[in-house]
Amino acid sequence: MKIAFFDTKPYDKESFERVEHDGIEFKFLESRLSIDTLPLAAGCEGVCIFVNDTANAEVIDGLCSMGVKFIALRCAGYNNVDIRHAEGKICVMHVPAYSPHAVAEHAMAMLLTSVRRIHKAYNRTRDFNFSLSGLSGFDFYGKTVGVIGTGRIGKAFIDICKGFGMRVLAYDKYPACEDVTYTSLDTLFSESDIISLHCPLNSETYHVIDENSIAKMKKGVVIVNTSRGALVDAVALLEGIKERKIGAACLDVYEEETDLFFEDYSGHIIADDVLARLISMPNVLVTSHQAFLTDEALTAIAKTTVENISGYIAGCGCCNKVVIN
Ligand code: NAI
Repeated sequence: MKIAFFDTKPYDKESFERVEHDGIEFKFLESRLSIDTLPLAAGCEGVCIFVNDTANAEVIDGLCSMGVKFIALRCAGYNNVDIRHAEGKICVMHVPAYSPHAVAEHAMAMLLTSVRRIHKAYNRTRDFNFSLSGLSGFDFYGKTVGVIGTGRIGKAFIDICKGFGMRVLAYDKYPACEDVTYTSLDTLFSESDIISLHCPLNSETYHVIDENSIAKMKKGVVIVNTSRGALVDAVALLEGIKERKIGAACLDVYEEETDLFFEDYSGHIIADDVLARLISMPNVLVTSHQAFLTDEALTAIAKTTVENISGYIAGCGCCNKVVIN
């Protein structure tokens, strides 16, 4: 079985070639899946895609007309696939869990780096500047962290926060954790010193952080987004930072990341003024959708994706098919 593997990076190739994949031939392509790159999937029975590939209605129809039978997402989120349009036409599979700890630990790494100014100190000491001016942070112990989405990653993040002696407030549309204090979104916004997003992107969570919710937050609140960019209205976030309402932002994802993240644009003039302004802020830390990037997660992604494809071929139904709620 031949599979067009879009948006291939060297670490993808390494991890997929490491896992046993007898009977499956990957055609590794650097291009992202879009209406323009569809022809690259010719002769393939399936496509394997990542977070910034596009599988909208037009692309899905194109894939179907070429005889492509399935879309194997090598990630958890599937907001870039028109699931409703795909239903009954093409099988969509994903990797529901690979290492929730990879993402939760990255969220905490960003938070600690930002609040304790580690990135600033690193640059200073490399230049033999041992001054501490402007580097003071705050203790996490005793602070309130608001967690939106208490699934696999949110729960792992909550456990880390509890280890720091933090008070945890949580909001989830389907609250399911027993040892977590659930509250309304409004209470979470008004009482949290730190807010971390771990819910999926959908029509209900789109811009959950916007002008209105920011108005309800404490002055100096720290926002962490390792989930999906469009959970945060970036323009409202920027305004909140300029007004000194938001104390810091840690962003592993960005609403308009598709044309930028995962590529090297050093030396280029970036057209996105909002991102450029955010990056220029002393209290904004941006990583480019890196939270999943650990050896353990990459191996688990490759293993589950291959198992999904094998399950699809075998027709055994155990292939992590995305189902519409
Ligand atoms: P999960 O499915 O285990 O948990 C998601 C939670 O969000 C569930 O508890 C669900 O009930 C809740 N939820 C659903 N709708 C909601 C709503 N309207 N409001 C509040 N909560 C809602 O997913 P998991 O594995 O914890 O991943 C969470 C998100 O993290 C993914 O959707 C993905 O967008 C993001 N992610 C980011 C990565 C990165 O590298 N930055 C890597 C992997 C995932």
